[in-house]
Amino acid sequence: MTAKIPVCILGATGTVGQKFVRLLADHPWFEIAAVAASSASAGRRYGEVVRWREQTDLPPAIADLVVGECAPPLPGAVAFSALDADVAGPIEQAFARAGAFVVTNTRTHRMEPDVPLLIPEANADHLVLIDRQREARGWRGAILANPNCSTAALALALAPLHRAFEVEKLFVSTMQAVSGAGYPGVPSLDALGNVIPHIGGEEEKIERETRKILGALDPGGVEPAAFAVSAHTNRVPVIDGHLETVSVGFRRRVSPQEATAALREFRGSPCVSDLPSSPDPPVEVDARADRPQPRLDLDRGRGMAVTVGRIRPCPILDLRLVLLGHNTIRGAAGQGVQIAELLVADGRLERRG
Ligand SMILES: NC(=O)c1ccc[n+]([C@@H]2O[C@H](COP(=O)([O-])OP(=O)(O)OC[C@H]3O[C@@H](n4cnc5c(N)ncnc54)[C@H](OP(=O)(O)O)[C@@H]3O)[C@@H](O)[C@H]2O)c1
Repeated sequence: MTAKIPVCILGATGTVGQKFVRLLADHPWFEIAAVAASSASAGRRYGEVVRWREQTDLPPAIADLVVGECAPPLPGAVAFSALDADVAGPIEQAFARAGAFVVTNTRTHRMEPDVPLLIPEANADHLVLIDRQREARGWRGAILANPNCSTAALALALAPLHRAFEVEKLFVSTMQAVSGAGYPGVPSLDALGNVIPHIGGEEEKIERETRKILGALDPGGVEPAAFAVSAHTNRVPVIDGHLETVSVGFRRRVSPQEATAALREFRGSPCVSDLPSSPDPPVEVDARADRPQPRLDLDRGRGMAVTVGRIRPCPILDLRLVLLGHNTIRGAAGQGVQIAELLVADGRLERRG
């Protein structure tokens, strides 16, 4: 019998924090040892302060945990951070300094050269950046970043195409769910029956994070992939799931059949494919003319698979396609848990037996 690894969740009361609670409640390798949030929630039972939005019941043992302040020491070899970005920086650094692996969903540290920005199937090799980070910063722990939610789906679908055909340029237009703005997020009178053609900072995140994820390790950190990205982001009245329409140009002409084959054959390394949270396959191609759709396709691979459809020629660039990813699972908590699993599989976190 092997003991589970204790973990804590920072920002456990929010949209992403609750998803972490749900995914970790019966995880085979990890157990929730602590939950923390703002001072307004700290000191009270989690079940009392959380506005639980998940469709499964809140496990009684978690409901009974007393919410802590977001400051070390908290029990947990891993600290999953689902904090508001405005407060995350110093808190995450304090946990890494105190020895925790901080898997963060906030934008704060994503673009720092010694912080890996990870999609395990696409760039698990970037994990070695934490060795440089720990040495340079003198930390016992480290910070590992999860990409922005729309970037996570886009970069996962692009990874096999970039690997096989080398992307030169792309346009992406997103239709992003309201849950991407956290709770209570976008006011209903703004969201319902409407499309808001602006999500602050999102286009810049997609443009720079995609290139870091698909870039190559170099002595200074990561050399971003050389392609140009033009992003348009829109908030639409969908609860969960970001749909993205993409036009992409490659170094050479690529047919829809070649792209479909590359997407269908794509797998992470064997070590990544065997992780408990890894879907098989990571990218599902659906050839039906009207797919993917958030309501029908969001939960594929338990929310960890990205669905790609409508792969067809583009009269301006080479190909057009539509992709869909679950913003709080592949785009946040699910992939956060998968990153922590990668630390275990890579021998950096031990399960005690
Ligand atoms: N929603 C998504 O789809 C998504 C996807 C990817 C990444 N992200 C990122 O993940 C992070 C969390 O997003 P969310 O959507 O879950 O937001 P949210 O629902 O607004 O939750 C924010 C959390 O931060 C806590 N918090 C706020 N101020 C704090 C403070 N001063 N000290 C300590 N804790 C504090 C809140 O605790 P209280 O309840 O006590 O106020 C709550 O637990 C954000 O950085 C966001 O950009 C979100």
